[in-house]
This record gives sequence, C-alpha cells and structure tokens, in this order.
Amino acid sequence: MVRHFLRDDDLSPEEQTRVLDLADAMKKDRFAARPLAGPQAVAILFDKPTLRTQTSFTVGVAELGGHPMVVDARLAQVGVRESIADTARVLGRQVAAVVWRTYGQDRIEEMAAHAGVPVVNALTDDFHPCQVLADLQTIREQKGRLAGLRLTYLGDGANNMAHSYLLGGAVAGMHVRIGTPDAYQPHPGILDRAAAIARETGGSVAVLHDPRKALEGTDVVATDTWVSMGREDEADDRSAPFVPYAVTEDAMAHAAPDAIVLHCLPAYRGKEIAASVIDGPRSVVWDEAENRLHAQKALLTFLLDPSGGRRR
Ligand code: NVA
Repeated sequence: MVRHFLRDDDLSPEEQTRVLDLADAMKKDRFAARPLAGPQAVAILFDKPTLRTQTSFTVGVAELGGHPMVVDARLAQVGVRESIADTARVLGRQVAAVVWRTYGQDRIEEMAAHAGVPVVNALTDDFHPCQVLADLQTIREQKGRLAGLRLTYLGDGANNMAHSYLLGGAVAGMHVRIGTPDAYQPHPGILDRAAAIARETGGSVAVLHDPRKALEGTDVVATDTWVSMGREDEADDRSAPFVPYAVTEDAMAHAAPDAIVLHCLPAYRGKEIAASVIDGPRSVVWDEAENRLHAQKALLTFLLDPSGGRRR
C-alpha cells in the first residue's frame, strides 16, 4: 500500500516517533542515507508562495541522493490545463514521490488517489503537517520529550497551523490549547478527531478564548500570521480581533518560566509576535526552520519504505 502524508494523523503515534528519531539521526549525519539514489526524482509543486518549503525539500531530496524537480504549478496549472488525476498519473509514472503546496485539501487527496507514489502535503488551506513535524522535532530537542507537554497556539484557530498542531500534538500525546477569537474556531471535525486521538495517547485538546488562560503554565508557545496565503483580501478585518492574542512579553509572563517560542515563519513583528520575543532568548525559530530539512528527509525516507527494510 502506498503511504501518503496529507495530514498529521496519517502517521500513527509509533510512526511519528520513528520519523522523529530518524530526523534526529539525519541531523547528526546529513549524508548517510541515500534512499533516492539513482538519482530518483521527486516532483515538488507550488500553487502558493514558498521559501522554507522549497529550500528544505530541494536540499533534502538532493541530500537523499535524489533529483528535486521543482515545478511552478502556476505554469503546470494543475486542475485547469489538465485534471489533477491526469497530472498525478503522469507524475507517478516518472517520479518517486510528489510534494505539493496547494489550496483545498480535496486537491491533494485527489493527487494521492491517482499518483501511485507517496504524496506529501507541503501546506494546504487546512493543514501544514510537515511544519508541525519539524516543530515536534524542535520541541523534543529542547525539552527531551513530547508526551505530557503543554503547547499553546495563539492566533487564527481556523488555519492550517492550528489544525496541524491539534492533530500532530494529539498524536504526540501533548496537551494542545488553541487561543483564538470566537469567530476563528478550528474546524469542528478536526477538533473532534484530535480529541479522539488525544484520548488514546494521553494528551488533550482545548479551545479557549481567553489568551491568558490558554497560556497559563504552558511549555511551548506557538503563533502564526493572522493573514494566511490566499486570505490577503481579508487582511483589514484580520487585525483587530487578533490583537489580544499577540505573543508579547506580557503574554509570555503567563507561560512557564522555561517556555520556548515557535513560529513557522514568515513572521510579522509587531503583529502576531513582538520583535523582542521572536528575537529573544526563548525563541527557537531558526532551529525550527532548519528542522524542516531533517524532518522532511526522514518523512520521505519513511514513506518510500514504511517497513524500514524489515520486509525486504
Ligand atoms: N498559515 C500560514 C502558514 C505559512 C507557512 C499560511 O497558510 O500562509
């Protein structure tokens, strides 16, 4: 069965741990594993802007011995010039895996249904699971564990990062709190799914409208832009409601004294996060950005051979 990574709960708790362990090993020895030797190609497509994702997948595929084939999807016009299913069939005959950043989750599901090779979600409107894998690697590096830790995300509770923290954090057995205004609640189906996973892993999930309560004693503080890609026309309406949820020095006073700060970037200093916080001693955002490379290399290695060579 071909494995995909379309959302955070596509990895079981055991698999998530395996991928994170592999990511740590790959960080220590970047050029040891070459599962894409040949070189086999990986198609990497972008319907939305990118810096970290293009860099980390391009470098990562090359380091795995493969050939990264970056396609500007605005030229390919996936789903316009050619159906997603036909695009998937063509790519799947030639590449080892497909990495795609696009809009609707239904689009990447359609790609996965027809590609015949692993498909990786490099951000959709609903999820950003590769980012959260890198975040989990970063948290583990700093705290030595994931299960039982409290993670608070402040900002747009209905965006891809909030959803991925809910699912990925629940898989890891964390206590995930989303601090967000009433009008920006996570998708109820995703919240329910995260709650069900958390019941199995010993974690928990909660949505709070009081940012101070959401932060109380938390181990990890995360935030993201208030205006996600594709929402630029709502920018004017997306400022005032989120101001109380900004990660400022005052806000950080409510977190645990040794709390760390994550931001998937790009960051807007003075909006969702104060410059003194993101550039201060609790911020681990540059480790987090680097870990995109290691986490995604580990993920691709896992997806290409989920048995880890055991069934060969
Ligand atoms: N929520 C943001 C994440 C950027 C990496 C967006 O979708 O634009």
